Amino acid sequence: MERPKVYVTRRLFPEVVQRLAQECRVKAWESDLPVPRPTLLQEARDCDGLLTLITERVDAELLEACPRLRVVSNMAVGYDNIDIPEATRRGILVGHTPRVLTKTTADFAWALLMAAARLVVRGDRDVRAGRWRTWEPMGWLGQDVHGATLGIVGLGQIGLEMAKRATGFDMRVLYYDVIRRSTEEEARYRLEFVPTLEALLPRCDFVSIHTPLTPQTYHLIGAPQLRLMKPTAILVNTSRGKVVDQKALYEALRDGFIWAAALDVTEEEPISPDDPLLTLPNCIITPHIASASFATRRAMANLAVDNLLAGLKGEPMPACVNPEAVQYRRPGG
Ligand code: DGY
Repeated sequence: MERPKVYVTRRLFPEVVQRLAQECRVKAWESDLPVPRPTLLQEARDCDGLLTLITERVDAELLEACPRLRVVSNMAVGYDNIDIPEATRRGILVGHTPRVLTKTTADFAWALLMAAARLVVRGDRDVRAGRWRTWEPMGWLGQDVHGATLGIVGLGQIGLEMAKRATGFDMRVLYYDVIRRSTEEEARYRLEFVPTLEALLPRCDFVSIHTPLTPQTYHLIGAPQLRLMKPTAILVNTSRGKVVDQKALYEALRDGFIWAAALDVTEEEPISPDDPLLTLPNCIITPHIASASFATRRAMANLAVDNLLAGLKGEPMPACVNPEAVQYRRPGG
């Protein structure tokens, strides 16, 4: 039987792609920049599987253009770039990469929180620009992290790791989520559930966002929410840019409604170099790198390959978003 054909949409770790190539005919977009849409449409046409990234829009147009497609394996925990109902309807299984990036992402959210609170980026810029003249008792003053109140919006796996790290800083941890944790978990991790976002925000010194992007979480943090926050508060976002209304955030930072923000994700990625947010000294922006450690990115690529291979063989995928899609598969598909 002919080996399945797969398309990999970016340059990845060679040994991981090699594993895929042992069982499949592999073609890859060997670049560090996203594959152009017309190329993707053309290359994916006769593929049985795709290994995609968050930069690829997997929508009805793409799925329609690939009549043989059986599995889309996204190398990310988030899958808001994929039209899941459309894939399911067509019997196409979708894989993602949860768990392997949880701690690395929480570590990075903490790095952003600390950097924003204690002016790490601004301090470094000032040193390089020759603005470090002396030890200034009134210079580079930040916000204390220890003993402060951290609010977590969306307490999934990453949110929980965020909370665990807060205990070492003697912080009080509040959380808001549509699903409440068990009383046992709340006690074990010293979490306080707050039933509404509006009740959570005014109580926090730091707010860290960990929700997926869905129609319900689009612009979850907008002008009204930002105005509920303390003027000394810091917003950290490592989830998806569109969860925060970026224009409203710019105005809130400019007008002092909140003290600072640290974003690993923006509404458009990459953010335009002309974006007004980049003019603000109290906003840190990193290029969507929260999961970017050597070990974690390798683990994500491996899990994406495991998902793809299992799905193509008709075996249970280690992490499948829509296992119910199998019932919609075409006969022989
Ligand atoms: C994800 O996995 O969804 C991230 O945003 C990329 O690490």
